[in-house]
Amino acid sequence: MSGRRQSQGEKPETAPKEIQENALASFLTQIETGKGEGALHDVFLGRAVQKLQQRPRQLSRMDLNPAVGIHFMVIRKFREEEAERVCKLVSKTFEEFVAPEFTKEGVEKWLQDEIPEKQIERSRSRDTYVATVNHEIVGVIEPRGNRGITRLFVDRGYHRRGIGRELLDTIEAIYRRRGATRIKVRSSLYAEGFYEKMGYKKSTGLIRKGGMVYQPTEKNSC
Ligand SMILES: CC(C)(COP(=O)(O)OP(=O)(O)OC[C@H]1O[C@@H](n2cnc3c(N)ncnc32)[C@H](O)[C@@H]1OP(=O)(O)O)[C@@H](O)C(=O)NCCC(=O)NCCS
Repeated sequence: MSGRRQSQGEKPETAPKEIQENALASFLTQIETGKGEGALHDVFLGRAVQKLQQRPRQLSRMDLNPAVGIHFMVIRKFREEEAERVCKLVSKTFEEFVAPEFTKEGVEKWLQDEIPEKQIERSRSRDTYVATVNHEIVGVIEPRGNRGITRLFVDRGYHRRGIGRELLDTIEAIYRRRGATRIKVRSSLYAEGFYEKMGYKKSTGLIRKGGMVYQPTEKNSC
């Protein structure tokens, strides 16, 4: 898949109109079949239309690859039948990028919550979102409280293609609608640079607890 950035002077890649229309149809079908509340649908609909009609290039950051066809990213609510896939994605990504900073006990403790039953249980009391590419889940974001985030994980094969940003933007938009003026994240050490790019600032020093380590960060006027 081509995740390459456009260099200066290069002709912008734009998805052909037919592909854009198909992509919009696919996006809307997924939104309509999701279990989200109306207000959330508006957020997604607004984003889809904005992307497809006003900023079509945004679509092509990861969509066009002549070898495998169009790849279109969708952000939508997590569905309970997807718990196993999400847990696998999160555990695998955690073990590679986050676990190296934890002690053995910290890793074991963290992974105890990464089983489908617990994922489903958590999703019943908070809105979890997934990113899909061609209907395959490649990222997930899980809120904490009404202005925090506990899990943001993107499959390593899809890093640096704007998926983490889209997931975070989605949660921020939802929090804003609910009146939050500040969003707090316990960043992994690996993700510090990502959150900095997203406008977050460290709120304290590193926290080490129970064999785990994280960097509290926050963003005003999210
Ligand atoms: C952190 C993570 C979610 C980022 O997802 P992603 O889809 O790769 O991020 P994006 O492509 O949307 O990146 C957005 C911007 O941040 C930058 N960025 C992404 N990861 C970065 C990193 N580790 N360090 C520095 N900058 C980073 C990107 O280059 C991009 O900047 P640009 O728009 O100026 O080019 C992903 O790397 C991941 O799953 N990491 C392992 C798990 C983890 O640590 N999660 C955080 C738990 S709180």
